[in-house]
Amino acid sequence: MSKYHIITYGCQMNEHDSENIAGMLEALGYIYEEDPYRADLVIMNTCSVRENADKRFFGVLGQFKKLKKNNPDFMLCVCGCMPQQPRIVEEINKRFSWVDIVFGTQNIAKLPELLELRKKTGKKQRAIVDNNPDITEDEMHPVRMHHHKALVNITFGCNNFCTYCIVPYTRGREKSRMMSEIVCEIERLVADGVREVMLLGQNVDSYKDVQGNSFADLIKAVNEIKGLDRIRFMTSHPKDISDEMIECFGSCEKLCKNIHLPVQSGSDQVLKRMNRHYDSETYLAIVDKLRSVCPDITISTDVIVGFPGESEEDFEKTLEIARKVRYDSAFTFIYSPREGTPAAKFEDQIPDDICHERFNRLVELMDGISLEKNIKYKDEIVDVLTDGVSKTSDNTYSGRTDGFKLVNFTSDKSEDEIIGQIVRVKIDETKTFSLEGHEV
Ligand code: SAH
Ligand code: SF4
Ligand code: F3S
Repeated sequence: MSKYHIITYGCQMNEHDSENIAGMLEALGYIYEEDPYRADLVIMNTCSVRENADKRFFGVLGQFKKLKKNNPDFMLCVCGCMPQQPRIVEEINKRFSWVDIVFGTQNIAKLPELLELRKKTGKKQRAIVDNNPDITEDEMHPVRMHHHKALVNITFGCNNFCTYCIVPYTRGREKSRMMSEIVCEIERLVADGVREVMLLGQNVDSYKDVQGNSFADLIKAVNEIKGLDRIRFMTSHPKDISDEMIECFGSCEKLCKNIHLPVQSGSDQVLKRMNRHYDSETYLAIVDKLRSVCPDITISTDVIVGFPGESEEDFEKTLEIARKVRYDSAFTFIYSPREGTPAAKFEDQIPDDICHERFNRLVELMDGISLEKNIKYKDEIVDVLTDGVSKTSDNTYSGRTDGFKLVNFTSDKSEDEIIGQIVRVKIDETKTFSLEGHEV
């Protein structure tokens, strides 16, 4: 029997694509192999969002060359966001021509056919499609990473063209799945043991299906599904978030009290050049609304530092908005020019040393706020959906609160008993990125 291994980079969308790929391979009789170097087929599902993602990929790819030499039957397949860029496919063909199969984000379902063609004809397969209007999710049978929680695509692609971002080029135009199909899928998942779903879209707030259902309609419909405990979603865009959606935090009891609301910058000038279509005032008004509907909502964000033209004053506005919002957590990135995006051609790129210096200041501020926010959980009892054994120690489990706080806790229960269960945990210690406690 043939063994497969998948290496996944990037966002939850790639993670979910990998789950779908695993589903297709297992239907073909492949079995999962944990060690990539012992597999007969390795799939590299790539990300291109920042330059270091590119570099890492080519580094890892190079390491498989030897394997291919020693075992002519070994197959390597590259997919995901990188091959959606012609220059990357050219580079693969030039420097890594031994790669057996390359396909993109828009034709994942083609993998079985490509594998067969590769085996039958002996020819390398290259199949990249842009803007496939018929991406179908419904025939997919993913092998989920977790038994108790699932990733569910609600939209594909992105139409926003933030000037720094490669995603609209790698994932094509935005398409919303039918609400009825999404609800059916989640009902099936719940019947299969799923307690938490994460609804996925590059901009969930612009969800609109052909029957006119909005994202708020979708949340309300999913909230009705019996047996489901938690609903999460990712990612919100401040320009499209609606009052009706915000109200859901008050009316839908399954909707987790947590939102990831990327701000990217606190400077209106920078936001404009990023093509984000909101300003800092609008952003802060959204945060106020969220907190008035749901006072204990946790808020996380993404920030880019060193965007072209960012002055010290612009950067200080980013620090200022962070202090005003007081984020529970933040992903901070140094701007990385992406070939083919408008911002890569802007002339006022910021030198590396200034980017790093600003990055460090921002991280220090954000981490300090996260720590302060976490302190208030000391001695509290929280509900934790247990995901698995903690990375740090064997007799400790880890999971997430409703507000997405990572909790490591001790319990007398066995792994089989506790994983996928919601347990009550008393918090004994609070850290910047986690809460530590014991089951009560
Ligand atoms: N659709 C989501 C996430 C897109 S990618 C959204 O709109 O928020 C995740 C994050 O990567 C972005 O929020 C942004 O902060 C960061 N990012 C995207 N392109 C980048 C680039 N060229 N350089 C640095 N960070 C980038
Ligand atoms: Fe990229 Fe902007 Fe689309 Fe997010 S909304 S994926 S940052 S273009
Ligand atoms: Fe990366 Fe593509 Fe996701 S570029 S962040 S894997 S959409």
